[in-house]
Amino acid sequence: MTGLPPTSSPRNPHYTLPNKWGFANERLTLLGAAYDPESIALAQRLGVEAGWRCLEAGAGGGSFAHWLCSVTLPGGRVLAVDADPRHLTDLPHRGGEVARMDLVTDELPEGAFDFVHTRFVLLHIAQRDIVLQRLVRALAPGGVILLEEGDGLGVLDELPGAFGEVWRAFARSTETAGANQAWARDLPAYLGAVGLVDVQVEAEIPMFRGGSPMARMWNLTWAQVHETLIALDVSPKVIAAAQAELADEQRWFYAPPTVRAWGRAR
Ligand SMILES: C[S@@+](CC[C@H](N)C(=O)[O-])C[C@H]1O[C@@H](n2cnc3c(N)ncnc32)[C@H](O)[C@@H]1O
Repeated sequence: MTGLPPTSSPRNPHYTLPNKWGFANERLTLLGAAYDPESIALAQRLGVEAGWRCLEAGAGGGSFAHWLCSVTLPGGRVLAVDADPRHLTDLPHRGGEVARMDLVTDELPEGAFDFVHTRFVLLHIAQRDIVLQRLVRALAPGGVILLEEGDGLGVLDELPGAFGEVWRAFARSTETAGANQAWARDLPAYLGAVGLVDVQVEAEIPMFRGGSPMARMWNLTWAQVHETLIALDVSPKVIAAAQAELADEQRWFYAPPTVRAWGRAR
């Protein structure tokens, strides 16, 4: 897997982890396995239930959209959009709708959803403020938006070992491509500024074990961005060491924090 060149999506040429990479579906499946339990628990707390009309923006592999279908259908609606929706093919079989859509340039239905969700999407998009406003406009009166986005606060500087060294280079490469690893901490302020009420936020620093789905997801990530890391002067030896660390079941790791912010439309 290492050595495969990164590919670029025609719809979003700056996204650093495009879905057309040969192992992207596997990587997105691992991402879902690592993060879905927390996302689902919070969505349940926020009241997502049968009949809700839901928008999953930047749906990736679609695991969270699958869960939304299982809870809200029949009677509700699940629209999963992505700039590259190639891994969402089985969603229609579960009653969901899929649309190829660039969140920066394409129009979303306005006032149409009881629940709008993103996870690890907006931090990657340079025009994230425009997208956030568009997502808020998609909410029906009383609808809830939940944004789960990564933030490098503290941990990014402190991550030890080869894993940490590779992470810091990866974070730099995403920021060169338009990502912002320090944006998510201001999400509650942004949600308030765009007129939402009942704004709340939580932040979590996940810890994970070598060999776990999260470790395998990062291992595949380093494979996907291998050429980018080399271009940033990370040696193949360090990348291999980071991948060996991640495969070691005796090791435990911090992941960068996840900020989960939500609010309600009046
Ligand atoms: C890190 S993945 C996260 C996938 C999914 N939300 C999850 O957590 O499992 C980011 C996703 O956002 C999509 N994406 C990135 N930029 C986008 C844009 N401008 N418009 C629509 N989707 C975009 C990518 O194609 C990718 O599927």
